[in-house]
Amino acid sequence: MVSRVIPVDPFDLVIFGGTGDLARRKILPGLFRRYCAGQMPPEARIIGAARADIDDAAYREMVRDAINEFSDEGSVDADKLTSFIADLSYVAIDARGETGWRQLVTHMRRGVVRAFYFSVAPSLFGDLAERLNNHGLTDNNSRIVVEKPFGRDLASARQLNQDLAAFFDESQIYRIDHYLGKETVQNLMAVRFGNMLFEPLWNSQFVDHIQITVAETVGVGGRGEYYDKSGAMRDMVQNHLMQLLCLIAMEPPARFDPDAVRDEKLKVIRALEPVEPHHIIRGQYDADPTDPVENPSYREGAENPSSKTESFIAMKTHIANWRWAGTPFYLRTGKRLSARSSEISVMFKDTPHSIFGEEAGRHRNVLSIRLQPNEGMQLGVTIKEPGPGGMRLIDVPLDMSFADALGPDGGENVDAYERLIMDVIRGNQTLFMRGDEVEAAWTWTDPIIEGWTKRGDVPKPYDSHSAGPDASTQLMRRDGREWREVTP
Ligand code: BG6
Repeated sequence: MVSRVIPVDPFDLVIFGGTGDLARRKILPGLFRRYCAGQMPPEARIIGAARADIDDAAYREMVRDAINEFSDEGSVDADKLTSFIADLSYVAIDARGETGWRQLVTHMRRGVVRAFYFSVAPSLFGDLAERLNNHGLTDNNSRIVVEKPFGRDLASARQLNQDLAAFFDESQIYRIDHYLGKETVQNLMAVRFGNMLFEPLWNSQFVDHIQITVAETVGVGGRGEYYDKSGAMRDMVQNHLMQLLCLIAMEPPARFDPDAVRDEKLKVIRALEPVEPHHIIRGQYDADPTDPVENPSYREGAENPSSKTESFIAMKTHIANWRWAGTPFYLRTGKRLSARSSEISVMFKDTPHSIFGEEAGRHRNVLSIRLQPNEGMQLGVTIKEPGPGGMRLIDVPLDMSFADALGPDGGENVDAYERLIMDVIRGNQTLFMRGDEVEAAWTWTDPIIEGWTKRGDVPKPYDSHSAGPDASTQLMRRDGREWREVTP
């Protein structure tokens, strides 16, 4: 398979927060990979901007170290890295003052795409937008990229949208949800809308229920302070799981273009029903007794002994529209679970009648789309159990790992961030969240969080490296269903 890398147009990219964690872990290594892949034109300029008073040379060395640290082992070509960092520059800047802004202006060219990545706390978004405007950096070639969390409730998200809208048109604002940049997440749309096979069955008449699981083995690590104010609902459900739900449930857009796709996603979010309190299970992990120092409890990690923040959430929700009325969607995500595994499973209904008699056994078709790791799809199909002794039915998987199906050089392994940054330069907003989408997501999320806060709900403890609290299993069992096992 030939990889088709089309270079993007020349651009200036300013990374505010250019010395921060996200820049070092994701943004800069991602840009370097695109550079190595030949997608960045020689005229591209990358400018780090942050508070630290360092010079270009020190910034370049910081970037070299970050790329070496956060790239796959053995994947960094030292000569290419030296030439990549040689073109980087750095501006010490004060987001709320005047320091550095004039210098930044001298780095920026006219007539090329000018992208500003706000890899900073959301409380600075408005200040940065205003200063970009005051310094004449907000013309039609300018775009801004903003990271989650986009607000912590509807009111704050609205405020952020207003702060940005004061200086930028919606078509210039790129709100990142990195799940949308994942290869398999886009594959969801290819599978649904590129095949005749699935779409006719994709509705409540044929689908019993849908499960979406995003399980992580890691705990909150060094992010305890941020995470304790968020919890799994704000950190994962309001954005990543909601986006997956939208792609699985939306109507076919007329075209694969930004507004057609985002209009359909928005309709799904607006059709989500409020979630009943007894359909939500929240959990908090305990320490791993075999290694409590490396794997402390959630409360120790978050340094908040009385924290009521959830590191796990499971819930049942419904979409009130013609396609999905009556089909439950079960969502589940958590940290310190037994395996890192993200999967969407479409569980089809039973056949209406078994011609083989109940004693032959019955199996349901399951289409499971594996997002990570081992990206692929599996379709459970019922066949006859081989051998004599009459008709007995078994379930076999039609298994397709994308790596196996596409071969070792089948398609390039492009990380979500690098893909999304290149989309910003190309001016393609399809995989970014629109302002109204984010607000609608908070409109659904807020009452759920308010509900458990008012009730004084305390998350249920669960064992580290388990499938979460037992109550999550019971949520399914009450409905006569089971979660699919979390496997690596
Ligand atoms: C981030 C969350 O958005 O997504 C993290 O803030 C989470 O808490 C991460 O670990 C998961 O991303 P991925 O790509 O590793 O599944």
